[in-house]
Amino acid sequence: MSAFRYLIQALVFCSLLVTGSAAARESAAEPPPIIDYRERFLPVVAQQGMVVATERLAAEVGKRILQQGGNAVDAAVATGFALAVTYPRAGNLTGGGFMLIHLARENRQVFIDYRETAPQAASRDMFLDENGEVDNKRAFSSHQSAGVPGTVAGLLYALEQHGTMSRKEVLAPAIELAEKGFPVSFSLNYEITARGQRLRGNPEALRLFFRPDGEAYGIGETWRQPDLAWTLRQIAENGRDGFYKGEVARRIAAEMEAGDGLITLADLAAYRAIERTPIRGNFRGFEILSAPPPSSGGIHIVQMLNILSGYDLAGMGHNSAAYLHHLAEAMKLAYADRSKYLGDPDFVEVPVAALTDPAYAARQRRLIDPGKATPSDDILPGRALAPESLDTTHYNVVDPQGNAVSNTYTLNASFGSAIAVPGTGMLLNNEMPDFALRPGYPNIFKLVQGESHAIEGGKRPVSSMSPTLVFRDGKLWLVTGSPGGSKIITIILQVLLNTIEFNMNAATAGISPRIHHQWLPDQLLAEQGISPDTVRLLREMGHDVVQSDRTFGRTHSIMLQGERLYGATDTRRPEGWVAGY
Ligand code: DON
Repeated sequence: MSAFRYLIQALVFCSLLVTGSAAARESAAEPPPIIDYRERFLPVVAQQGMVVATERLAAEVGKRILQQGGNAVDAAVATGFALAVTYPRAGNLTGGGFMLIHLARENRQVFIDYRETAPQAASRDMFLDENGEVDNKRAFSSHQSAGVPGTVAGLLYALEQHGTMSRKEVLAPAIELAEKGFPVSFSLNYEITARGQRLRGNPEALRLFFRPDGEAYGIGETWRQPDLAWTLRQIAENGRDGFYKGEVARRIAAEMEAGDGLITLADLAAYRAIERTPIRGNFRGFEILSAPPPSSGGIHIVQMLNILSGYDLAGMGHNSAAYLHHLAEAMKLAYADRSKYLGDPDFVEVPVAALTDPAYAARQRRLIDPGKATPSDDILPGRALAPESLDTTHYNVVDPQGNAVSNTYTLNASFGSAIAVPGTGMLLNNEMPDFALRPGYPNIFKLVQGESHAIEGGKRPVSSMSPTLVFRDGKLWLVTGSPGGSKIITIILQVLLNTIEFNMNAATAGISPRIHHQWLPDQLLAEQGISPDTVRLLREMGHDVVQSDRTFGRTHSIMLQGERLYGATDTRRPEGWVAGY
């Protein structure tokens, strides 16, 4: 990456979200850099390194690590630990996720699976009541909702294998943020207030997230987390044993015992992050790398791209009825396969090669009627219903050497189970409901999942998280990912189509109205901005179009063009930060 530095402006999107560091403002006086057409929509541009994350302080932590000479993995690990402090609804030590790394010098990509595992005592029917019905409250908001956490093992594995800095160096900023505190942002205040009822329901969460008088910390007020600082110090000093053994582990296990949870000291000690082979696919000459099982993301993104590669999508026109119809049909086929074939690869044989084979896609293409929606029941039988209100977070890093990290991690719901482990500053995840709580019935994302998704001790629930890298002519071109539960896969699909097929820059690709279909329920969900004419045409083709006033996910992307890094967040949602230099 070129040595001359700067950063142009910050951006104004929709109604005026002005981002930008002091460096950006200082450089405003410098002559403007050469404008190419991709700058028309103003993603933030940098030339050395960049971190795109959902929260400003944590993104700036990553940037500082890069400026101190750390590589993309050092910065990603530091950002991951910092988000656990500054973005408690999804940043975490107690959840799990996936990290996809591009190592520039070796031109090699590494995927780290640090998804939670079911505790050994977990069993297939553990969330069924005496009538055989799913006990949703116990599945979603109890000690039993938690899987064995993977985040600490995953981040430390990445650092040890591919980082250059010490554990203490990358943990120091998170410890400082927890210890000294930081001013509460509008979004943090809003989220804690909005989830007040859940968080107040647990005495330890009440103590952590609210002032002694029981009120939420106000915007601009300093929020300190001494217990979390203590936990982070245990990790800085003792590595993974500082979390999975010793006092932190004992506190987790004690809380489990007190709350009828299943995670034991033995479960914690046995947890391992696993390196796996990323899924690879091709679309219009671009190479796509994404998450392998236990994520379903990579397989289905590649499968849908394979199906869609047989059509002149650009000719149909972006977000035209014909285009969205073909997208929806490909989505249904992929999600039907997800229900049957996906699982933890250490427990279930997942036919990865078959599902991502272009010849299979060609056969599936024949099932698509170009002018008519195929009812989901004709693809595979099933039924569905259930609510959604969840959270996860994705961030990207690119360093001056061209290394990159695409990382998505989660507690599942916003603030996980909303149950805090006393004395640790940490919330428990509620990842267990990502399993099929009753195979064949919809889960919290309304996903219908079959036997391969059943609960077993030690197994990892299938995920939709899809950290993704795209290469063009062998060079890294796009780093992207998003939260969004079961929608993550279709969100990333559309970001890839927007950039590759429709030549959009990272910013436009991330905010263009999206659709989602997951086979069951047989509904085509559409964001605001899909035109009423298009909706009418889709309905005439037989799609049950359901319009949503919520945006789907929140994409964070870095696009690499020549010597430049173009960073973009989904500016239709609050927060999101591009830290570049
Ligand atoms: O792993 C999964 O697929 C889910 N647990 C992710 C949850 C999620 O993205 C919620 N965020 N909006």
